[in-house]
Amino acid sequence: MSKKDNKFYITTPIFYVNANPHIGHTYTTIAADILARYHRMAGDKTFFLTGTDEHGAKIEEKAREAGMDPQKFADEVSASFSLAWDTLNISNDGFIRTTDERHKKAVQNALQYMYDKGDIYKGEYEGLYCRGCEQFKAENDLVDGLCPDHKTAPETMSEECYMFKMSQYQDELVKKIESDEYRILPAERKNEILSFLKEKLQDVSFSRKNVKWGIPLPWDGTHTTYVWADAFLNYLTGLGWEGQIPLTPFSKGGDNLDMWPADLHLMSKDILRVHATIWPAMLLSLGLPLPKTLFIHGFFLVDGQKMSKSLGNVIAPEDLVKKYGVDATRYLLASATSFGQDGDIGWTKFDEKFNADLANGLGNLVSRSLTLVGKMKEAGMDIEKKGEVETFDGIEFNHAIAEKWEKYQEYIAQFRIDLSLKIIEEQIRFLDGYITATKPWALIKNNDERVGAVMYNVLERLRHISWMILPFMPETAEKIWAGLGLDSQEEMKKELKEVVEWGGLSVDADIKKPEPLFPRI
Ligand code: MSP
Repeated sequence: MSKKDNKFYITTPIFYVNANPHIGHTYTTIAADILARYHRMAGDKTFFLTGTDEHGAKIEEKAREAGMDPQKFADEVSASFSLAWDTLNISNDGFIRTTDERHKKAVQNALQYMYDKGDIYKGEYEGLYCRGCEQFKAENDLVDGLCPDHKTAPETMSEECYMFKMSQYQDELVKKIESDEYRILPAERKNEILSFLKEKLQDVSFSRKNVKWGIPLPWDGTHTTYVWADAFLNYLTGLGWEGQIPLTPFSKGGDNLDMWPADLHLMSKDILRVHATIWPAMLLSLGLPLPKTLFIHGFFLVDGQKMSKSLGNVIAPEDLVKKYGVDATRYLLASATSFGQDGDIGWTKFDEKFNADLANGLGNLVSRSLTLVGKMKEAGMDIEKKGEVETFDGIEFNHAIAEKWEKYQEYIAQFRIDLSLKIIEEQIRFLDGYITATKPWALIKNNDERVGAVMYNVLERLRHISWMILPFMPETAEKIWAGLGLDSQEEMKKELKEVVEWGGLSVDADIKKPEPLFPRI
């Protein structure tokens, strides 16, 4: 893939290291990986960043409970995130940790800049603080006095702190969100934020005196940086930024700074509000361009209930991998819900989907197709390349795939990975129907030459399917290539515009029967 005129910088939230990853974090990360892999396949210059958020009161408390030094504690949990992403074949280009020295220094530089500019001032803040969210809450955010996300009562906090003049950026923010210059998707999330921004935005406390586990403010070491101010800057420090203003692309800051602004921040609704207020206001204060799009996906519910430790229904990514394998786990999560909406998941659903879509669907199609080619060759019959439209026993089959690719790409451009998957499913169903209608086994038996064209159409369409599934299930795509006699290193050198043409498969392809892709559960 060589075209490098477009860029795509995608991020996940950096995850808190208070506990090991579960499939909620995994969902966001797999979705980001799919989009990153698609953009690489399309030839775009791509950077995919994930990482861990390691400071603040919550982590300090968890480390204390575990009787551990916070840094050691963070090291262990952060490693469990990297390990999970390695296992799942996540292709991130960077993994940022907020305890990295370089990140800490950059945060200090950035805050010093905002302080010198007069955007951070000394004040006093009194409010209700939820440690789970690491955020102050307004009375009307609470349900029966509890944080609706964490079901705990926030603590009353009153302390001297440094405040960020977020309020002065409100009008500019509203304009940028309304005009989609700072685009929030899906539309209902944008509306929710615009209605929140009808109320006067308050300044936000940017430092803590009582939290030791954080980055000291450069001008007043008795305060540590508010964990969200620290965390947001990861999106820049993860590109190698050292906190210098202006952001000069090829300065000593890092080779990847030309990837800024982010094209897509992916996350769920729990952290939308801060991403639509504090983060862009910080960027405006720093005089830096805003990210282009926030896409907010839904929450996973397990059998109708929120996933939580206290309910004991937390599913870890390795539980899924053990049962279904890496690619199937990626598929089951990516297709679990309509992307952007909450969705119910659970083991029964996963089992059913695995068997229906993967074992009986794709797996069976690949195995049945390649077996038929084997039989055909044994009978001494050859594959024959024909056009994109074919009439077989009076039924017309249109093998042209261009339109399908267009749809697939359109959905990816809208970040609707679930809908792109539906296009793939449609192709699988089409081919199954085609094989049933043309009965290649009977053609072979009757020595009917038409089987050559029929099987070419099957294999060539399988080749297209393999490319469409590459971002979702990279190992499966390679296994299909092996079956089609294609060398994966050669394939990966191809440009997408070549790949999507009809007729890429040679009639001399060395077809082999692969191991079963998805043995039934
Ligand atoms: N550390 C902050 C983010 C800082 S980004 C500058 C944080 N971390 S978190 O560990 O709580 O991660 C929250 C994110 O994890 C959600 O926005 C979402 O991406 C993912 N999910 C966590 N639970 C989830 C579900 N049950 N379902 C779907 N996604 C979930 O917030």
